[in-house]
This record gives sequence, structure tokens and C-alpha cells, in this order.
Amino acid sequence: MDATNRKIEAARAALAHVEDGMRLGIGTGSTAEEFVKLLAEKVADGLTITGVPTSERTARLCMELGIKLSSLDETPVLDLAIDGADEVDPALDLIKGGGGALLREKIVASAAKRFIVIADGSKTVDCLGAFPLPIEVNRYGLEVTRLAILRVAQELGLSGELTLRSARDEPFVTDGGHLLLDASFGRIPDSRALSAALVAIPGVVEHGMFLGLTTLAIIAGDDGIEVMQS
Ligand code: 5RP
Repeated sequence: MDATNRKIEAARAALAHVEDGMRLGIGTGSTAEEFVKLLAEKVADGLTITGVPTSERTARLCMELGIKLSSLDETPVLDLAIDGADEVDPALDLIKGGGGALLREKIVASAAKRFIVIADGSKTVDCLGAFPLPIEVNRYGLEVTRLAILRVAQELGLSGELTLRSARDEPFVTDGGHLLLDASFGRIPDSRALSAALVAIPGVVEHGMFLGLTTLAIIAGDDGIEVMQS
């Protein structure tokens, strides 16, 4: 099975958790898009859900495929959110934000009673950090924020590159109008300490570690579906 088919299988398994009438947070990225396509088929067959998208990109796809959307302000409590991830560790802590949508993704996940992660087997890790950690930052004072991130990382024994994400030779701008720094720190043994240090920096809007948010991870590998529960 190739990576795309594994993503489809994880998405299909997650769809079994979606019930009629649910208020549903809908993630961003290639795995989440496979979920959206399968969800759209169910909606065409009569399933009723109210979707809250985690990005403009996901909103566009949902609208194209006929999935009814609401905003998080109109629908502030969600029954379930389903999203992909860049890394999943054994405690179901995640790194997210490879697709640049981490802020809305984290707000949506935190508004959901249950949060299901869908991924192919390449995303499971023993310890977070091989995937560069995306950090969403305010444009103002970018250099001050960059230096502060490097300082707190060093205090925690971490070092590495902080790269301003770009797209088509321009800085990548998130749906919230912010910039992204990708932090290649390597293994992050104490993700909670790093999280606390990062959110204390004024220019940091949010970071891509999703700690203690995941209810279930549905991982599709060569041997089929593995369900990891917290
Ligand atoms: C977007 C994300 C994605 O969920 C993450 O990057 C995984 O994407 P993909 O399913 O394409 O591998 O966090 O911000």
C-alpha cells in the first residue's frame, strides 16, 4: 500500500466515528483532505454534519464538495475534530503545522470533546522533534522573537536552526496573517517545558506541539490500521 492509500485508510477508519448531527472540526493537510473527500460522499448520501474548517484551504475544499460549514464563533463546542499530524509519539502528543495551519488547528482541537488524529505509519516517533517544530510568530519584532526562541531553547539544552518558512520566494503567511519559524532542534525530551517557555515569549503566537489534546490516533501502516488511545 502506498502512502496515499494509507492516508485514505486512516481517513476511512476515522469516518466511522462521525455520527449524524455532529458538529465536526475538519483538519488541514493531505490526510485531512482524504477525510474530507470521504466525508463529502457520506454527506451526498444524506449524512448531516456541521463542519468547522481549520484553514481557508480546507474551507474551500469543503465548499467545493458540498459540506456545510460554520464558523467557530457560531459553533464554539464541537463533538469531534479530525486532523492529520506530522509526528505522533506514544503518549499521543503531536507535532503539527507542516501545512501552516497550526493555530486554527489547535483552537479547533481544543474546542472539541474528542480529537482524532489520522496518519500513515511514517508519522509515529518515540520522541517528538525529528520534524522541525513550526512556531507561529507575529511579524512585528521578528528578530527579537527569533533570538528569544533560541535563548529559551538553549536554556533547555536544545540547539539548531530556526528557519523562516517561505513559499514561492516570499515569507509564508498563515491564515491569521502571521509568519512561521521552523525550529530544527532535534529530539525534544521535555516538550512541556519547551511549550511553557515558548508561549511565554510575547511575539510567539502559538507552536506546533499538541500536548494532551489527542483522544485517539488512527495510524495506517503496512499491516493495517492501528488505533492508539490516550
Ligand atoms: C497542517 C498540519 C497537517 O495536519 C500535517 O502537516 C500533516 O499533513 P499531511 O497529512 O499532509 O502529512 O498540521 O498544519
